[in-house]
Amino acid sequence: MTGLRDCLCGEVNVKWLDQPIRLAGWVHARRDHGGVIFIDLRDHSGLVQLVFDPDHKTLFALAETLRNEYVIAVVGKVRPRPAGTTNPKLATGDLEVVCGEGQLINSTSILPFTPEERHQTSEETRLQYRVLDLRSDAMQSNLRFRAKLMAHIRRFCEQNAFVELETPVLTRSTPEGARDYLVPSRTQPGAFFALPQSPQLFKQLLMIGGMDRYYQSARCFRDEDPRADRQSEFTQVDLEMAYVQEEDVMAVVEEMIHGIFVAFLDVKLPPFKRLSYDQAMDLYGSDKPDLRIPLQFIDLTDEAKQTEFQVFRRAAQAKDGRVFLMCVAEGERLSRKDLDEHTRFVMHHGAKGLAYIRVTDPKAGHTGIQSPIAKFLSEAFLATILKRAKAQAGDLLLFAADTQRIAQTSFGALRVRLGEQLGLVQSGWQPLWITDFPMFELDRAGQPQPLHHPFTALQDYAALNDLGATSQPDAAALCGLRSRAYDLVINGIEIGGGSIRVHNKQHQIAILRLLGLSEKQAKAQFGFLLSALELGAPPHGGLAFGLDRLVMLLKELPSIRDSICFPKTQSAHCLLTNAPAAVEDAQLNDLHIRLRRSDKALNS
Ligand code: AMO
Ligand code: AMP
Repeated sequence: MTGLRDCLCGEVNVKWLDQPIRLAGWVHARRDHGGVIFIDLRDHSGLVQLVFDPDHKTLFALAETLRNEYVIAVVGKVRPRPAGTTNPKLATGDLEVVCGEGQLINSTSILPFTPEERHQTSEETRLQYRVLDLRSDAMQSNLRFRAKLMAHIRRFCEQNAFVELETPVLTRSTPEGARDYLVPSRTQPGAFFALPQSPQLFKQLLMIGGMDRYYQSARCFRDEDPRADRQSEFTQVDLEMAYVQEEDVMAVVEEMIHGIFVAFLDVKLPPFKRLSYDQAMDLYGSDKPDLRIPLQFIDLTDEAKQTEFQVFRRAAQAKDGRVFLMCVAEGERLSRKDLDEHTRFVMHHGAKGLAYIRVTDPKAGHTGIQSPIAKFLSEAFLATILKRAKAQAGDLLLFAADTQRIAQTSFGALRVRLGEQLGLVQSGWQPLWITDFPMFELDRAGQPQPLHHPFTALQDYAALNDLGATSQPDAAALCGLRSRAYDLVINGIEIGGGSIRVHNKQHQIAILRLLGLSEKQAKAQFGFLLSALELGAPPHGGLAFGLDRLVMLLKELPSIRDSICFPKTQSAHCLLTNAPAAVEDAQLNDLHIRLRRSDKALNS
């Protein structure tokens, strides 16, 4: 096989019987058995048992010194294991290799943990000694899976006429909603490159440049706090297509995802569902709902407008208020203490409280319920509630009465929490497209921000010029604008997002103007795009999905970090290399950078 070994450890088989074989790998375990030493030799393919006989004195002496994770090479002969000593759990469990020669290639210092002990080891230690962690079965399996997945995706893209192209990493800011990582320029004092948050603008330029269909496994950089499903440096499978509409992009992506599930999980996915953003928010309180949780909101706003219960009536009558009801089947399992906790939980999300009704007999009116708000409910309103909820004995009815935003988000978070706590999450896969996103949302300061990015096309441009004509555009009209964006969600995880893009220069300028950029500023920042839009830009659109997230989903990993070779911690720190790190003054001088005194201490 190579100069040092004839065969992988896990692939030793009967073809090698009675033949000399050269093997190399890590010592996985050593057992001394009445004079004979057994070593389990390991590489990524598995284990094979080596036998060291005491008759062979020098070799035996070497075997006695071997410890876990030492690297050794041996020459031996393959023989069947004696009856009663075979190990059916191992692929090589019927065989063993009696060693005739051996060599210690490398020993180890004291091990912080062995690959086998991964699951009992803190993540901090694992990230610090990542090489040991990478040797574990779990990480080997995750990363090899990732490589196969990317190879599959490449094949799919090649077969579908996508051209693999690379876009710059040292570039200008590409606004995707996070902070940029900046790289100071040595040759232009005071100027900075930004690492791309995504290849968005370049892939659009490639469409204008006639590449027709592009794809790339693209490294993206976003200076935001990493979380279980988020890293500051991550990989997108980035696609763009010319002369397409939403349906074309969604069809290609669906075909790819269907193929991936068949190839890797042997799963035939159900047809992808579709929900508009508004539907998703009003039914599930989330733009990435996990449809495996069988809980939906029932909108009681209209019915609550005339109720005697002030809490509901006020919310229902407010301009942007909502009253939602959620019927939790068999919710009787929740104790008073649980409900107090859930109340605190929704209040933490901004809600004012959590009203509830326990249903003991849905046909018995007030005598068939228990609820702290019972006294505020008329017979008629209670009957409406029970009817809308299709309540059964044992059900728990929960209510959110608030502004639309708070009712949606607090109840949406509660829905997921209840789903997990009550074990309601069904098995299987629920792929879903979310469409018809608002183009903008207002930030805390009331400023419009794009929900996706500013290069997303609008469904209708008619209102755009009117909105842009006033210095203080009407917030409701602004938030009413719908974009041509779509997100792909599977089991509550946002796997991908994309859109049809703006290909008309005036439209692009108008959108940037709504975001507060004058035409001059827009030209200064995005002049290269605006000028390309004047050079014959075809309509185009695309999507990017998170490769790390897809691996996490398919392998059901608890953290995105388990899908990445060298991930960063929650504070965007690499424990392995200790990056980011201080640099020499000379380097800073070259880059025309002088640190503030307070930061200097940190840098030394
Ligand atoms: P978006 O910002 O939605 O779109 O990103 C696309 C997909 O990338 C993944 N992703 C991440 N994965 C890990 N860590 C992160 N910090 C992170 N951020 C995003 C998600 C997400 O769905 N240029 C557009 C795409 C387009 O319009 O074509 C973009 O970047 O799975
Ligand atoms: P109160 O009248 O404030 O004592 O509230 C009566 C019940 O309604 C309590 O169980 C509260 O938790 C609940 N509640 C109060 N405000 C809201 C609200 N905005 N949405 C849902 N339930 C609420």
